[in-house]
Amino acid sequence: MTSNALTTVILAAGKGTRMKSRLPKVLHPIAGRPMLGHVLAAATGLDSTKTVLVAGPGMDDVAGYARNMAANVSIAIQQSQLGTGDAARAAATQISNRDGVVLFVFGDTPLVRRETLSDMVERCRKESDIVILAFEAADPTGYGRVVREGEEVKRIVEHKDASEEIRSIRLCFGGPMAVRAAHLQALLATLTNDNAQGEYYLTDFVAHGRAAGLSCSAVICPESDIQGVNSRADLAAAEGVMQDRLRAAAMAEGVTFLDPDTVYLSHDTVFGEDVTVGQNVVFAPGCRIGSGATIKAFSHLEGAEIGEGAEIGPFARLRPGTFVGRKAKIGNFVETKKARIEDGAKISHLSYIGDARVGPEANIGAGTITCNYDGYNKFFTDIGAGAFVGSNSSLVAPVKIGDGAYVGSGSVVTKDVAPDALAVARGKQFEKSGWAAGFRAKNETAKQKKSSGD
Ligand code: UD1
Ligand code: MG
Repeated sequence: MTSNALTTVILAAGKGTRMKSRLPKVLHPIAGRPMLGHVLAAATGLDSTKTVLVAGPGMDDVAGYARNMAANVSIAIQQSQLGTGDAARAAATQISNRDGVVLFVFGDTPLVRRETLSDMVERCRKESDIVILAFEAADPTGYGRVVREGEEVKRIVEHKDASEEIRSIRLCFGGPMAVRAAHLQALLATLTNDNAQGEYYLTDFVAHGRAAGLSCSAVICPESDIQGVNSRADLAAAEGVMQDRLRAAAMAEGVTFLDPDTVYLSHDTVFGEDVTVGQNVVFAPGCRIGSGATIKAFSHLEGAEIGEGAEIGPFARLRPGTFVGRKAKIGNFVETKKARIEDGAKISHLSYIGDARVGPEANIGAGTITCNYDGYNKFFTDIGAGAFVGSNSSLVAPVKIGDGAYVGSGSVVTKDVAPDALAVARGKQFEKSGWAAGFRAKNETAKQKKSSGD
């Protein structure tokens, strides 16, 4: 074969009924990204000439997601879900190359690695007309069984069509299949739905191809790289595998996890060197953690960028749009949203800082709240460099606290405070000497009178 053309076809039109969900199966997330996103990332990393996504009619969210994520994906619509072979047929009209390789991948196998797919494509280019991906399943129930003779794959038998003898085979079909494009049309023409499920099976390419003199071999990968997601239990199992992978990769990059199994990462979490993460921390999508930062136990971060040497938590909640500068500190029970906490600033306890900037080295006292929302609109609070906001203050946005200004504890600040000024906005304390003693004496006398009169 001369051509290196590669068309990758992702099958995602299935109804996913076993998920019992309104959300299409391939949009269920693993590590904060839809399963389809993981498969697309693996597929588009292969230098495919073209990527075709097969979706069902009305699956606009699936098609839209794929288009957003990868610019050159074309969408094929499979009118009714008649099986994986029929889905391949729906894609065929979009496959123009008559040479090179066509790689089919299922949208419900999010753990598949790019390197594995790449090995399959190479082997299909050089050695076999058809290359399938197979794995030894601990429990093969439900999977197609791979029947081999030496290295040659003879056929794949779906679980529902298999005899007891075939069911005892533990080598299963994982989903990905590479086929030389020159044979695709002929193979599609051989498909029938004469089987237990009345479906057109992609897996029949193997037996039908061999009958026509084509060769077929298997690339074998660990089960944890290819286990399919058909149910919520499978989804949870795949999440577990992905989390282990992400944790291992982070530790290899120089992150210390005090208890790795309790830390949840997203597919896009980025760590610098020498980051320390405590127990029970969640990194939702969009987090970048700078070198030397410490994220203490029970913190939840999403869409947050943390500067070098910053200290977060325990029990901090950083919401999207949070930026924390170098050596800044966010302590316990602090919530931030769309907030720029600049270098060396401190928000140590019990605060809500949203739609705000906290200048470098500013200190925000316990219980400070930015009142950013009036039920309709959001307003900005700007706190200058080195400002000191006393405990339990409410900053009613829009408002600006100047550089180096002080705000007295318990203030409700509604007007801008000039740089280096002191603002106190609370009721004035007054004192009546002896008032409490008099109050008690009066009431005690009344009480005694009442009881002696009874
Ligand atoms: C399929 C394989 C099985 C394999 C297993 C691996 C077939 C016939 N069976 O079974 O051998 O062990 O995957 O996980 O191929 N899809 C469509 N259109 C359809 C039907 C399915 O696009 O009409 C898509 C689905 O969205 C899904 C993929 O194809 O992403 C696989 O379909 P699914 O129904 O999950 O097949 P399995 O029963 O898992
Ligand atoms: Mg499946």
